[in-house]
Amino acid sequence: MEIKTPTRIISFVQQKGGCGKTTTVANVGAYLAGMGQRVLLVDLDSQANLTQSVGVRAEELSHSVADLMYKPDQGVEGIVLTTPFGATGQLDLIPASLDLAVVEADLLNHYGKEWLLDEVLSGCRDKYDFILIDPPPSLGLFTVNALMASTEVIIPFQCHIFSITALGQLQKTLRLVQHKNKRLQVGGVVITLYDGRYSLSRTVLDTISELFGPLVFDSKIGLNSKLAEAPGAGKPILYYAPGSPGARAYKKLALEILERGKQFYG
Ligand SMILES: Nc1ncnc2c1ncn2[C@@H]1O[C@H](COP(=O)(O)OP(=O)(O)OP(=O)(O)O)[C@@H](O)[C@H]1O
Ligand SMILES: [Mg+2]
Repeated sequence: MEIKTPTRIISFVQQKGGCGKTTTVANVGAYLAGMGQRVLLVDLDSQANLTQSVGVRAEELSHSVADLMYKPDQGVEGIVLTTPFGATGQLDLIPASLDLAVVEADLLNHYGKEWLLDEVLSGCRDKYDFILIDPPPSLGLFTVNALMASTEVIIPFQCHIFSITALGQLQKTLRLVQHKNKRLQVGGVVITLYDGRYSLSRTVLDTISELFGPLVFDSKIGLNSKLAEAPGAGKPILYYAPGSPGARAYKKLALEILERGKQFYG
C-alpha cells in the first residue's frame, strides 16, 4: 500500500516589506505545478499581489479568503480558483480581496482567531501536495494564522541591514508559534533580490550563512527585470520568460524545496 506523504504547508514569512515573498510564492508554486505537483496558493495579503501574479483581478472577485476567515468551516468550494498554470500538476488559488484589510480588526475579539486558516485548510489539504501561503509584511494576525496552519516556514531574505534587524523579532515569533504548533519547522532561508555587486550583500550573506548553515538554499534569486515584469502580465516567470536568469533561479529553488521534503519526510 502506498503511504501518502503529508501535504507540505509552507508559509513564506518576512515582516520586512518588499523582500520578494510574493514573487517567490507565485514562481515556486508554478514550478512545482510544472513538476507534476498539486499546488494550492493562498493569498493572505490585502494587497492581493499574489492573486494578480497569477492573472486574477482581485477587484472583480465576489468571494475571497476574507469570507473564509469569517466562516472557516464553510469549505473552500466557490472560493478556490483553478489557474491555467497547472502544467502537468495543478495550480489553484485561494485569492485575496482588497477588503481583507478590515477583517483583522473585525476578528480582534474572536475566540480562536489564530487557528482560522488551519481550520480552513483542514477541509481541503488532502487534495494537494503543497499549500504555499503568502502572508502580509507584518507579524500580525494573518501571519500568525499562516504559521499556525503550516508544517514549514521559509524565510525570504534580502541582503539589507533592515532584514538583519527584522530577524530577531521574526525568530521570537517563530519560537512562540512553535510552542503551539509543534509541526512547524524552519524549511529554509532563500536569498532574494541579490545583488553581488554590493559588498554589503556579500557581508550580510556571510552572516546569514553562519546563522542558518545548510538551511540557506543554494539557489540565490538575483535581481532580474523579467521577475518584476511578470506580475503585470499576470503570469509566473515559467510562462512569461522561461529562459531568463530569474526563471532558472526559481526552477532550481523549487527543485531544492522538493528535495528537502525527502530529508524531512523520508
Ligand atoms: N529578483 C527580483 N528581481 C527584480 N525585481 C524583483 C525580484 N523579486 C521581486 N521583485 C520585485 O520587487 C517588488 C517586491 O517584490 P514582492 O512583491 O515579491 O515582495 P513582497 O515581500 O511580497 O512585498 P510585500 O512585503 O509588500 O508583500 C515587486 O515589484 C517585485 O516584482
Ligand atoms: Mg507580498
